[in-house]
Amino acid sequence: MLKPELQAQIEIAAALLHKGGVVAIPTETVYGLAADAANAQAVKRIFDIKGRPADHPLIVHIADESQMNYWAREVPKAAKLLAKHFWPGPLTLILPRSQHVSDLVTGGQDTVGLRVPDHPVALALLRAMGSTVALAAPSANRYGRISPTTAEHVREELGDSVDMILDGGPCQVGLESTIVSCMDNIVTVLRPGGIPLTALEEVLQQEIAVLDSTDSKIRVSGSLLSHYAPVTPLEVLPREDFWQRACALAAQGLRVATLEWSAPDAVHSEHERIVRTTMPANAVAYGQLLYATLRQLDHAQFDRMIAEAPPQSTEWLAVTDRLRRASYQA
Ligand code: TXA
Ligand code: MG
Repeated sequence: MLKPELQAQIEIAAALLHKGGVVAIPTETVYGLAADAANAQAVKRIFDIKGRPADHPLIVHIADESQMNYWAREVPKAAKLLAKHFWPGPLTLILPRSQHVSDLVTGGQDTVGLRVPDHPVALALLRAMGSTVALAAPSANRYGRISPTTAEHVREELGDSVDMILDGGPCQVGLESTIVSCMDNIVTVLRPGGIPLTALEEVLQQEIAVLDSTDSKIRVSGSLLSHYAPVTPLEVLPREDFWQRACALAAQGLRVATLEWSAPDAVHSEHERIVRTTMPANAVAYGQLLYATLRQLDHAQFDRMIAEAPPQSTEWLAVTDRLRRASYQA
């Protein structure tokens, strides 16, 4: 049961959205910037507020699996199976779109991304909106920046440009959903995220390819190399190299912040211009903290950040992906 004050906020949000408003909403992954998916004006405002190019599609958030058939013209068996297992949850399914999905939402593509978020506030809001209403929502950050994982982050990113920020507390997953394309009877991961690859493979009993986003022709905005980026330049280096690099930068008079997950050893000693942050050695816990940590270090105005490269196992795919994008300097 949600607290009465929160329930009241949800009703206000639903009314705003029905009228074509734009509302920042909590989900289990990151905060989203939501509008009624069927309201062209409202959807257009999302792009304006974010500063996002019009050809980058938005995910359509629905209340439950039964709404898939309204927004998708065809739901392949694999997609049904994945939805059954992982919804509500951090999984977005790319499916052939139905006539109910507007070109504005899909950026003109013939597909739609659908997701049922696993957050009590988001679900209550979706239910309050009604069974044929869905919420188009990208992450609630300015284009190319770090996704917000608290209501305060959204305020920082978007301020007064949104009609309301619905505060549902800090996001539990902390990284965006796993995007899985189910087009043409081929299941492919387009963006690693909250659901690990092995969990998908277990459910479908098959190996699933992960698209190498560096040479993708499919438009997934998160696949632009310079994305999810902090303001402070970030480098990702293996354990053997990163301390030496940090010291070299510090020797130039730069203030350096490090993000490390493996236990510190004696070789890596103290340095007055290097501030070390220990991250969890577990991929899920690391992912939960990553954006909030980058944001905090950004505020502290270091000259450089250096992250220790994560382990190469598949459970670290999402963290590795986000660090790589955050580190790319155009
Ligand atoms: O966890 C999440 O997925 C969060 C929360 C708010 O749900 N949303 C999110 O949205 O990360 P956004 O817009 O920041 O990233 C969604 C990604 C974009 O890279 C977009 O291009 C891709 O999903 N996408 C959406 N619809 C698509 C489609 N039809 N085909 C291919 N990619 C699609
Ligand atoms: Mg985003």
